[in-house]
Amino acid sequence: MQNRVNIENLSKKKNETVIINAWIHSRRDQGKMIFLDFRDGTGLVQGVILPGSKALELGKILREEFVVEIEGKINARPEKNIKKDILNGDIEIEVLSVKILNESKALPFNLFYDTIKVDELLRLKYRYLDMRSKRLRKNIINRSKTQNFIRNFLHNENYLEVETPILSAPTPEGARSFVVPSRVYKNKFYSLPQSPQQYKQFLMIGGLEKYFQFAKCMRDEDGRGDRQPEFTQLDMEMSFADEEDVMKLNEKLLIEIVKNCYPEKRIQQIPFPKMTYKEAMEKYGNDRPDIREDKNDPNLLAFLWVVDFPMFEKVDINDNESPGEWTFTHNPFSKPKNEYLEDFNDKKNIDKILSTQYDIVLNGFEIGGGSIRNHKSEMLKKTFKIMGYNNDIIKNNFGHLLEAMEFGAPPHGGIAWGFDRLLMIMEGEPNIREVIPFSKTSDGKDLLMKAPGNISKSQKKELGL
Ligand code: AMO
Repeated sequence: MQNRVNIENLSKKKNETVIINAWIHSRRDQGKMIFLDFRDGTGLVQGVILPGSKALELGKILREEFVVEIEGKINARPEKNIKKDILNGDIEIEVLSVKILNESKALPFNLFYDTIKVDELLRLKYRYLDMRSKRLRKNIINRSKTQNFIRNFLHNENYLEVETPILSAPTPEGARSFVVPSRVYKNKFYSLPQSPQQYKQFLMIGGLEKYFQFAKCMRDEDGRGDRQPEFTQLDMEMSFADEEDVMKLNEKLLIEIVKNCYPEKRIQQIPFPKMTYKEAMEKYGNDRPDIREDKNDPNLLAFLWVVDFPMFEKVDINDNESPGEWTFTHNPFSKPKNEYLEDFNDKKNIDKILSTQYDIVLNGFEIGGGSIRNHKSEMLKKTFKIMGYNNDIIKNNFGHLLEAMEFGAPPHGGIAWGFDRLLMIMEGEPNIREVIPFSKTSDGKDLLMKAPGNISKSQKKELGL
């Protein structure tokens, strides 16, 4: 609205009469006068309808979360009532007139207190109300600011932001894929991407050299505090790069994010320490050790690179899908480290072959991982052969990528961060749902939109299901 003043700017308008658009955040009716807190997208302000005001009558029917247009006068608070550390702590808006823009039913939960204490299923069902709370709001705002910072940083480093398809073919990232039936091609299915891995490799073959994207990834796996079926990666790929190049750029970006978006945090060690997979397993019993000196310090960030992962591992005996006795540890596209190329070529000492994979770990969480890729089709084929794939399977599943590599694929490598995981740690949240605006439950339900849901008989028929 034209004359509207944002609540964050009211303090500059002392003695002026202004118009605000806001929600009623709280209300204390004292009979002769009514105290009201108003809230808009920029902040809170305390208001009052004074005795004798013509606004008093309408003021009586106002309730929490009503949407109003208020005409009011900005009065300075008396010295003794000034609250120094809060927005508008030095003023109050004296309500002159009220227009109700919309009413509100009583809310299913209270927004004054930290909503983390409210039943989470209720918060997820009424996510739009939870967004009015301080906690979720802060997380959404900081998510946007951090994304914006990353975009600017990478654009300045000459990275191109490219969107890749959601309707695609299966990608092997070690989880199950979600599938979408095709209406036109009966009994054919699209797959939702577990990551844009192959597309970003095509971009390198396409000569684009430096790519990034905030990519939606879908994995049909059981939920956990740091896992959702749908999540966001900060995905990157670069040509003519080795491990050091990828790690250096990522380290610089992470340090800059902390400096600019989370200045209250302290990084334990710069440059980030590196640890081999073997050392991590021997010393900590896992490949994402929490190396913080003080685990009670909420502002301490202990980044760690974990390197020298084994390229292959024995197939799980319960895995009926793998044709051979070996499978990849991360994804099949990684290149072995140079020292192991001979063994790789000769298919010898397979359990000893180390890959160029690197993971970035933060406070005990794997927040990202990547590798330098096999950019020659013969080499990639070898990985599939070691995994026991026959020529037909290789051609059917990866023929497109293998063929592309035969047209002058440059050496390339990259990384993807679990962006939600990074934010969870930065915001000090106990799980990634708190930093995902429209999160699913831990068992994969969208309670707001009610998904997964039913489809009609005719739709099923049309899809050949
Ligand atoms: P990877 O499978 O290791 O690598 O995934 C990269 C990062 O994504 C995050 N992540 C998840 N976050 C939330 N919910 C999930 N279900 C989930 N699964 C993974 C993790 C992980 O480190 N294409 C490769 C990257 C590459 O090689 O460039 C890939 O997807 O933080």
